[in-house]
Amino acid sequence: MKSYDVIVLGAGAAGLMCAARAGQRGLKVAVLEKAEKPGKKILISGGGRCNFTNVNAGPGNFLSANPHFAKSALARYSPQDFIDLVDKHGIAWHEKTLGQLFCDGSAKQIVQMLLDECPDDKVDVICGAEVTEVVHDSDLFGLLARGQSYSAPALVIATGGPSIPKMGATGYAYDLARQFGLKVVEPRPALVPLTLGGEDVLFRELSGVSAPVRARAGQGKARTEFAEAALFTHKGLSGPAILQVSSYWRHGEDIGVTFLPEAEADWLLGLKRDKPRASLKSVLREHLPDRLADALSERLGVERELGNVSDKDLRKTAEKLADWRFSPNGTEGFAKAEVTIGGIATSELSSRTMEAVNMPGLYAIGEAVDVTGWLGGYNFQWAWASGVAAGDALGA
Ligand code: FDA
Repeated sequence: MKSYDVIVLGAGAAGLMCAARAGQRGLKVAVLEKAEKPGKKILISGGGRCNFTNVNAGPGNFLSANPHFAKSALARYSPQDFIDLVDKHGIAWHEKTLGQLFCDGSAKQIVQMLLDECPDDKVDVICGAEVTEVVHDSDLFGLLARGQSYSAPALVIATGGPSIPKMGATGYAYDLARQFGLKVVEPRPALVPLTLGGEDVLFRELSGVSAPVRARAGQGKARTEFAEAALFTHKGLSGPAILQVSSYWRHGEDIGVTFLPEAEADWLLGLKRDKPRASLKSVLREHLPDRLADALSERLGVERELGNVSDKDLRKTAEKLADWRFSPNGTEGFAKAEVTIGGIATSELSSRTMEAVNMPGLYAIGEAVDVTGWLGGYNFQWAWASGVAAGDALGA
C-alpha cells in the first residue's frame, strides 16, 4: 500500500495544475492517469497549439446551474496568472483573435510546463493507471490501480467529462460523485455541431460553405449571441458561431442567424434606389459565397429586379436575412463535442476550495464539474483556476 497526502484522479489540465500546486506546498501527491501519457486533450487542443487561455475570461463566459459558482476561483487565478507561468517557462505565445492565446510552438510545451511545475520529490504522475473503484474507510480513500494499492485522506476527481469517447473520455467522474452522494447535473454535449432535418435539410447541399454571421440561442435572459463564422456541413451547421450557441441550445428550440451582420436594417431599400436593375441574388453574391447567396435568394423567393419589388417585401426580406431561423433536430453528440455541459453539481462543492460540502476530503475540479466555458481558451482557464483552488486548499 502506497500512502500519499492526496490522490488526484486524471493527469489532464485540471489534475496536473492541482497536483503541481499541492506538491509545491509540500504535500505528497499521486496523480493516477489511465492513458499512457499525461495531458492528452491538451496535446490535441487548439489544433496542436493549445488555446491555453482567453484574456477576456470572466464569470460571464461560463455556463452552470449556478452562474456565481465559478467567480471565486476565476478571480483568484486569472488569465494573467497563467500567462505569467507560461512566460516563466519561456514558452512563446501569440494572441490569435477575440483574446484567444496560443503557443507559437506546440501544446507539448504546456504539458511539459505542468509536469515541470510538479516537484519531483513530491508528485508522482503514474500513467497507464485506470481507476475503476474507490473505497472510503476510516477517513482514508483507498483504490487499486495497475496492481498497486494507494491510500490518502484526500481524493481529487479530475477525470474530465465524456466528450470525445474515442480518446477514452468517460463519465467516470459522475459515477464516483454519485457513489459519495453528490448530485450530478445532467451532462450533455456542448461546443458541438448541430444537425439539421426537415426543410432545413436542403442547406446540407451547402456543405463546406462558411460565412461570418451573428448566431443566437437560448431563452429569455439566457439568450446569447456570438459574432463569428458559421460553417455548413453535410449534417447541418458548425463553425465557431454555431459551436458557441450549441451550448445554449435545447432540443425543440430554434437558433437565429444573422447573415450580413454589418448590413443596416433598410439596406435593401437603399439598393433599390441605387441599383434598381440588380437582383437579390446578385447583391447577395457581392457579400456572401455564391452558393450561399443562391440558396438564400431561392428560399426568399425574390426573383424580380429590386426596382420592381415593393418596399414592404424588401423590408421583410431584410428582416428574414437578419434573423434566419434554423430548427436543429439534434447535435453530433459527445463524439464531436469539445466539452460537456453539466456534471458534478456546484451546490455540492465549496466555490473557494472545490471540496465536497458533505464529504470532507473529496474534491472535484475541471470539466467534471458543472461549469462550462465558451469556445476560445475559457475551458482551460476553468481547469487551471479550479485546479489552483483545490491545490492551494488541500491539506490546509
Ligand atoms: P481532461 O479531459 O483534460 O483530463 C482528464 C484526465 O483524466 C484524462 O487524461 C483522462 O485520461 C483521465 N481519466 C479519465 N478517467 C480516468 C480513470 N478512471 N482513471 C484514471 N484516469 C482517468 N479548451 C480550451 O480552453 N482551449 C482549447 O484549445 C481546447 N481545445 C480542445 C480541442 C478538443 C478536440 C477537445 C476535445 C477539447 C478542447 N478543449 C479546449 C477543452 C479542454 O480540452 C477541456 O476543457 C479540458 O481538457 C478539461 O480539463 P480536465 O483536466 O478537467 O479534463
